Amino acid sequence: MAKYIGILTSGGDSPGLNAAIRGVGKGSQCFDMELIGFMDGFRGLVQNRTMRLNNQILSGILTHGGTILGTSRDKPHKMTLGDETRDMTDVIVETYNRHHLDALVCIGGGGTQKNALRLHEAGLRVITLPKTIDNDVAKTDITFGFDTALGIATEAIDRLHSTATSHHRIIVVEIMGHRAGWLALGAGIAGGADVVLIPEIPYSLEGVAEAIKQRARGGKRFSIVAVAEGAMTVEQAAKFEALSHRKDKAGSKEHKSKASAELAAFQKQHVDHTVQLTQQLEQLTRIESRLTILGHLQRGGTPSAADRLLATRLGTACAELLNEGVHGVMVAARGDGAKPVPLKKVAGKTKLVPLDHPWIQSARLVGTCLGD
Ligand code: F6P
Repeated sequence: MAKYIGILTSGGDSPGLNAAIRGVGKGSQCFDMELIGFMDGFRGLVQNRTMRLNNQILSGILTHGGTILGTSRDKPHKMTLGDETRDMTDVIVETYNRHHLDALVCIGGGGTQKNALRLHEAGLRVITLPKTIDNDVAKTDITFGFDTALGIATEAIDRLHSTATSHHRIIVVEIMGHRAGWLALGAGIAGGADVVLIPEIPYSLEGVAEAIKQRARGGKRFSIVAVAEGAMTVEQAAKFEALSHRKDKAGSKEHKSKASAELAAFQKQHVDHTVQLTQQLEQLTRIESRLTILGHLQRGGTPSAADRLLATRLGTACAELLNEGVHGVMVAARGDGAKPVPLKKVAGKTKLVPLDHPWIQSARLVGTCLGD
């Protein structure tokens, strides 16, 4: 008898999502499984909005960016519908049963892994795939979306070089990555940025300015500063740590909500940090400075060959695992293959750049200032 498999994409979109849907879909057909897509992440499961993923739909999507299923950042346990915000897990379980699903595939980043574990604990047979341009999902070598974004950010740094050189300017380029520095570090090295600032290494503003002045003294009148959106100065990082600690240790509900509000206010203010950094560097170095925020350009457009390959590899491995009845796992990338890892080991964890990572060592050896 045919098996019915649900599938959804959740969290920020990422190049390679359609390649993964196609991989799961075409792979499933080989094992006599039928795929039902749910629209806009977990919201589609609550609202029972579906798309039947037959051959016709799966054909031609490999090279397309975005996701044919749509996505959202909705969480099953805290979803707003109309005026109401509530735990929708029971509604999701109902939809799952109504479609007689044998399993649900959730494609997403760190948040999706946590939500998938919650549904797994609520009794659903869940299996996940790791996607995000941030490359920060634990227990997988890499996530799909990262390679494409890396290419876009690197090309941006390449292009900024000629204008920075011509005008003898500092150009600060803000690169996505959430709280991880993979994208900024990778693109910074590949694009030959002179300074790379990542969340894992809190930086000294004066140190960065001094490195740029030293370049100027050596005849280099321009500098490219690649900054991860989550990078912080030593002082900002200390404040962030203290606020996070206060929130985690708060005893009463009242203290917790006060600490959460303080942390949220800090984070909101930090959104502008590259604007301030650009102004401060101009003041400290007396070199004209400009800021480029790459933003969602990094997530858009056609996936790279490496991302199509990775998403297809993980998608088809997922179909094989579904056929074997495996669930409660994320299909992780391991070397040239794929490996199921229990969701419990993935959810709630973030893969940051380790301080002894070879990329950091290489960056230092080619003379890149990392701000410390
Ligand atoms: O997780 C991917 C990501 O692009 C992060 O790099 C970034 O912080 C975030 O999503 C932006 O989210 P949104 O598209 O919801 O503004």
